[in-house]
Amino acid sequence: MSLTIDLRSNGDRPEPTSTAAGMTARKVSAWFGNHKVLDRVSLEMQAGQVTALIGPSGCGKSTFLRILNRMHELVPGAALAGSVALDGVDIYHDAPSATDTRRRVGMVFQKPNPFPAMSIADNVLAGLKLSGLRVRDREERQQIVVSSLTRAGLWNEVKNRLVSPGGSLSGGQQQRLCIARALAVQPQVLLLDEPCSALDPTSTRRVEETIAEISHQVTIVIVTHNMQQAQRVSDDCAFFLAGEGQPGYIVESGPTETLFSNPSDSRTADYVQGKFG
Ligand SMILES: Nc1ncnc2c1ncn2[C@@H]1O[C@H](COP(=O)(O)OP(=O)(O)OP(=O)(O)O)[C@@H](O)[C@H]1O
Ligand SMILES: [Mg+2]
Repeated sequence: MSLTIDLRSNGDRPEPTSTAAGMTARKVSAWFGNHKVLDRVSLEMQAGQVTALIGPSGCGKSTFLRILNRMHELVPGAALAGSVALDGVDIYHDAPSATDTRRRVGMVFQKPNPFPAMSIADNVLAGLKLSGLRVRDREERQQIVVSSLTRAGLWNEVKNRLVSPGGSLSGGQQQRLCIARALAVQPQVLLLDEPCSALDPTSTRRVEETIAEISHQVTIVIVTHNMQQAQRVSDDCAFFLAGEGQPGYIVESGPTETLFSNPSDSRTADYVQGKFG
């Protein structure tokens, strides 16, 4: 189902941004205070593709993800160097605002976090309000609810209970509700930080199907500790690593198939085969 939704911000009118856009990170380093946690990470995340970030705990995957939508700077004492471009535009120097970037680059977290007492429909619309976007009328709001839930693969399960609280859904359904909420603002990129780690295998499969369905319309960057999942869902893959007390870096990146079947670095081979991490 595809809908043209006329989203209006407070005052000015942003151009529609429903098409997937690529992101390019160049020599991104990051710090929390004096603690350097990422060292010159460069990565191309292609438009309309799924890029998986893999690597042991603490090597900076979540930090890198938060740098892609300007959430890193919300942490007191956080700093970064390097550049990040969205559709060729530097998000730290040339984008209109951090809010604009965060709308274009949506995020879904490890633990499903719908507003539990809010209705399913209002949960979908909640992102619009937080992004400062106003929707013209009731009919348009309904269209956004239907199209977002459809794209997130949840519509059939909730269409008869849109007024039920978000907290009444199963964990897997809640996570797809969070994906619907993220999609409602028509992001160009969707960041998923271990979206299935709190879910059972069936719900995990369902979320993976959702990822496959939406990946043509929105670029996806997903962090996962599950090697099978990385292979199932991603086109490209980046392997992060950090030495003891050292900042994380990318050992190797490229097509997922190559990383898993013919990696160029022995550490990648060991990691994807489960020998450490
Ligand atoms: N808010 C913060 N303040 C200070 N240090 C932080 C903060 N968030 C993360 N770090 C540190 O940054 C480093 C990278 O953490 P990050 O969460 O990005 O790793 P990760 O690869 O996502 O790990 P995991 O796989 O366990 O989620 C770690 O050393 C961590 O302790
Ligand atoms: Mg993490």
